[in-house]
Amino acid sequence: MTTAIRYYTQTGNTKKLADAIAEATGVKAEDVSVPLNGYTDVLFLGSSVYAAGIDPKVREFISTLKPENVGKVVCFSTAALLPSTYRQVSGLLKKQGVAVSEKEFHCRGRFLQVHKDRPNAQDIEAVKQFAEEVLK
Ligand SMILES: Cc1cc2nc3c(=O)[nH]c(=O)nc-3n(C[C@H](O)[C@H](O)[C@H](O)COP(=O)(O)O)c2cc1C
Repeated sequence: MTTAIRYYTQTGNTKKLADAIAEATGVKAEDVSVPLNGYTDVLFLGSSVYAAGIDPKVREFISTLKPENVGKVVCFSTAALLPSTYRQVSGLLKKQGVAVSEKEFHCRGRFLQVHKDRPNAQDIEAVKQFAEEVLK
């Protein structure tokens, strides 16, 4: 099974999750500026919320995906207040005809003085377990 990890981060929180998934799966985590190469069975896609929306760079990356080059996308995200980016990201992916896993990982992310320790060690452990479960 081929696996890839792409993420977008502004302040480093989502990168922490991406790096933990990389550690659990042995696959390098790359920024969304790095296009997918060939066919990928499982794509872990990380994003966050900025002013209630995902960053345009995530939208741009999703617009490059096709059902022919990705089997399914597994979403992960961080946010300070909103529940997760799943609705926005899965909506865009479905428009592309790309399959999205119903399983997602989300945790709080530090923003200014809020959730100062997140993602914490527990979040990192949980996202590693999540990634292992997904690939079982
Ligand atoms: C410019 C900016 C705007 C943000 N707006 C929101 C928001 O509307 N709702 C929310 O829940 N979190 C918001 N946040 C908090 C981020 O979603 C949170 O810190 C997230 O973990 C950032 O991920 P990153 O470190 O990977 O960039 C905002 C953060 C920044 C920097």
